[in-house]
Amino acid sequence: MAGKQDLRPAIGIFDSGVGGLSVLRHIHEQLPAESLLYFADSLHAPYGPKSQAFIIDRSRSIARFLIEQGAKAIVVACNTATAAAIKTLRQELDLPIIGMEPAVKPAAAATRNGVVGVLATTGTLQSAQFSALLENYGKNIQVVTQACIGLVECIERGELASDTARSLVADYVLPLIQAGADTIVLGCTHYPFVKSLIAEIAGPDIVLIDTGEAVARQLRHRLYERGLLAGTQGLGGVHCWTNSPSTHAVQLIERLHGEPIVIEALTHQTVSVLE
Ligand code: DGL
Repeated sequence: MAGKQDLRPAIGIFDSGVGGLSVLRHIHEQLPAESLLYFADSLHAPYGPKSQAFIIDRSRSIARFLIEQGAKAIVVACNTATAAAIKTLRQELDLPIIGMEPAVKPAAAATRNGVVGVLATTGTLQSAQFSALLENYGKNIQVVTQACIGLVECIERGELASDTARSLVADYVLPLIQAGADTIVLGCTHYPFVKSLIAEIAGPDIVLIDTGEAVARQLRHRLYERGLLAGTQGLGGVHCWTNSPSTHAVQLIERLHGEPIVIEALTHQTVSVLE
């Protein structure tokens, strides 16, 4: 098992819970030599309905924790936290910070009939950042949005194909199809874990777009610009932390990552990431 000392300098990645693992997967694929540090703020998931001040506080504590562990760059692998906190993080921290936003721009290019559906959290859809995104890229298309209340919690419970998951996905996807969407944006990093369910309910003609791969490309570009890319030798390790008191959180990270991984549960430490 690799220890933390083997992982410096590394890419720090965080999310409200397991969702950011869908982004980590792309980063690991595109930048296999980089060591990755992942923090799942499972104790505080979901972020979607929480206040901007709360999410800024959490993002700040977690980013500082990851920097203490040796992060040379931070990926905010959460659309909700990006919308709420990325400006503050960039003002306060002097290292590359890469965020996520719902893929409205690629969806506008991909749609055949001009109708795009966006699945995201309430926090993302109500953010100024999302309004700006619509203003910039949504003018010539019709964008239909859908807040997916309860879906992040369902995925955090490890339910990727349960009856509850299926019924929530149907409740959220079918109105988009009825509104005519031929392209659906997965605007939350948890949703790729139910992508096959979404695809099944949406049907074969609907294009699904998520941003994990583009974020990994953007990260590589930013690291290259700053001369921070790891060499090409060897495979970087992946080290995860969760602050959930439940053993289920650790098992879920293992299951979703699908490869051997070092996971530390922070349940007995009194550090700010637990507050
Ligand atoms: N993965 C987060 C996102 O991309 C989920 C937010 C939540 O915890 O509600 O928005």
